[in-house]
Amino acid sequence: MNEKPVVLLTRRWPEKVESQMAELFELRVNASDLPMSDAQLAQALLEVDIVCPTVTDKIDGQMLSAANIRTRLLANFGVGFNHIDIAAASRLGIRVTNTPGVLTDATAEIAMTLLLTSARRTGEGERLVRSGGWDGWRPTHMLSTQVTGKTLGIIGMGRIGTALARQAHHGFGMPILYTSRNARPQSEEIELGAWRCDIDELLQRSDFVSINCPATPETQNLIDSDKLNLMQPHAHLINTARGDIVNEADLVAALGNGVIAGAGLDVFVDEPNVSQALMDLQQVVLLPHMGSGTLETREAMGMCALANIRAFLSEQPLPNLV
Ligand code: DGY
Repeated sequence: MNEKPVVLLTRRWPEKVESQMAELFELRVNASDLPMSDAQLAQALLEVDIVCPTVTDKIDGQMLSAANIRTRLLANFGVGFNHIDIAAASRLGIRVTNTPGVLTDATAEIAMTLLLTSARRTGEGERLVRSGGWDGWRPTHMLSTQVTGKTLGIIGMGRIGTALARQAHHGFGMPILYTSRNARPQSEEIELGAWRCDIDELLQRSDFVSINCPATPETQNLIDSDKLNLMQPHAHLINTARGDIVNEADLVAALGNGVIAGAGLDVFVDEPNVSQALMDLQQVVLLPHMGSGTLETREAMGMCALANIRAFLSEQPLPNLV
């Protein structure tokens, strides 16, 4: 390409990254920062060389079946890429990259935050103080569950799961159970007090369960009523991965019927819509998909996407090819 490549950011990115990209490319930015419609995305694929989507942009097989698609690279801003039909992209020779690694600690922090908030009822406590309804200290007020020393089950011991295990084990003395396709190295299992088991055993034995696996056809509805029924009545479920790994209706029922004690959710089936049934439950902590949302991390994600684009344009191996 002799002229500057045309690159589209479907949402606003941190200023530091946008300004670097504007120097390098003919940069188009969705200045409204609202989700682009399917029609706008489909049109963009015809007009720009590189699209940089996010989790809010569904790029499916139908969109990728159009004639005369110009886009050659989808440089995703995020590690999860379940919103992109990878098989359809690859049939067209469109490369797809993501931004792993740089958001590991930030996302693990939010998982730990949800775990602590759910166990210690700090969301409820904050709401009580702000409502003016706090009537003072007493020995039986707002009793909650201690975290230190309790067992944490981690479903999916990749980068984020492992970082969470490290925070939980070293910070709170939590023994770890985990599921993973492959066992972690023995030295790491010893360091993290971690024991690999199957999902049913993990659910039965854990005081807290955190979902950290990718969203795939195999993990859709992985946590349904059958799995929730295996958990202990005092247990809490934490999800910072993707909403559709949990069957939300089954979760609402399990919480309502006391099958489990609480949940902390950063992701939902139909974001940004959160069901009223979930909203009505005090024992659920609800966050707006903010796992990677520190300034440092979002800048690093942008820089990672930029590195993928530069490698693509200079015909180098792509650092984070999906
Ligand atoms: C990620 O990186 O996958 C975050 O969930 C945002 O997409």
